[in-house]
Amino acid sequence: MLRRGLILAALFLPLSGATAQEVRQEAADEAAIRRGEYVFNAGGCYGCHTDVKGKGAPLAGGRRLKTPFGDFIGPNITPDPDHGIGGWTLADFTRALREGVSPAGDPYYPAFPYTSFSRMEEEDIADLWAWLQSVEPADTENVGHELDFPYGWRWLTGVWRALYFSPGDFEAGEPPAAVGEEGREPWERGAYLVRVLGHCSECHTPRGGLGAMNDDLFLAGNAAGAEGEPVPNITPDRATGIGGWSLADIEGYLEIGMDPDGDFAGGAMAEVIDHTTGKLTPADRRAIAVFLMSLPAVERRIARPPG
Ligand code: HEC
Ligand code: HEC
Repeated sequence: MLRRGLILAALFLPLSGATAQEVRQEAADEAAIRRGEYVFNAGGCYGCHTDVKGKGAPLAGGRRLKTPFGDFIGPNITPDPDHGIGGWTLADFTRALREGVSPAGDPYYPAFPYTSFSRMEEEDIADLWAWLQSVEPADTENVGHELDFPYGWRWLTGVWRALYFSPGDFEAGEPPAAVGEEGREPWERGAYLVRVLGHCSECHTPRGGLGAMNDDLFLAGNAAGAEGEPVPNITPDRATGIGGWSLADIEGYLEIGMDPDGDFAGGAMAEVIDHTTGKLTPADRRAIAVFLMSLPAVERRIARPPG
């Protein structure tokens, strides 16, 4: 449809300078939408907002997310004006991602990983927004979360935020010396993909009692991860993490889900590979691998589920 628009616009190109500008505008919009789709994939928005099991429409919500606090139900984020985010502005959307606050000013539960998304680049947010506008609106009504007492009180999230949430801009920081000057660029990109867009730590970093991530054990595994399944240590510790993997092993795993032993990823990670890391460019998968291998190795064994 977009392509047809471009061709149509191109047909009118010779008529006047104003239309040439329109053509440029449309091409710019289309480029933003394409970039936005990439951000959407890298951000893994699809899984939590689509009820794949119930054959729900894409992004129309209804996906149940089991957590120690109860079940969250991903809401409809299609551009439907009544049931989705069709009535929102880019500023509303930016605030939701960067500050975790709804247009009405209510704090979101951190089951929506804005603790990671908060550091998304403004341009990525604008592109993502452009792409979301191009999605088919769905009039699926949102259903409430089913949370255990007392987590159903949204205002408690305000207390949690005051303790654990610090919004701000992304800063990659300094790569360890071993990364070298030529490795700096992929390392910085990898840091952004892992820490922000890919929100890998939301599953791979253990949490304390109130669900705050333990930064000292960044990516060192979570025995009680998403859906109650154990999530492995992905720091480069040889015995308990992925220290024995090569960069190519990590890239291959992120692309097709096969580990160096020939076993395939299951559960939550299979979804991440299908919808997120498998859709990235090889350069971005390499960037993730470079960043993971540069992390401090943490010795911490996470028991594997049987089978
Ligand atoms: C791990 C699951 C998860 C992922 C990944 C996720 N979300 Fe969400 N999202 C949620 C949940 C749960 C809520 C509801 C939070 C609440 O009610 O406080 C939510 C809420 C939202 C809202 C607010 C909707 C409303 O009606 O107020 C928007 C917008 C949103 N997400 C967009 C995104 C985008 C864009 C991405 C990808 C960059 C994304 N989400 C990734 C789980 C997720
Ligand atoms: C929704 C939760 C979730 C998210 C988000 C997630 N992972 Fe995973 N990851 C898992 C689970 C669960 C496994 C174990 C899968 C299995 O062994 O079947 C896993 C396994 C892995 C492994 C293999 C480790 C091993 O020892 O076998 C790597 C590497 C990995 N993840 C990297 C990443 C990266 C990089 C990201 C971010 C782009 C990420 N994961 C995001 C849940 C998650």
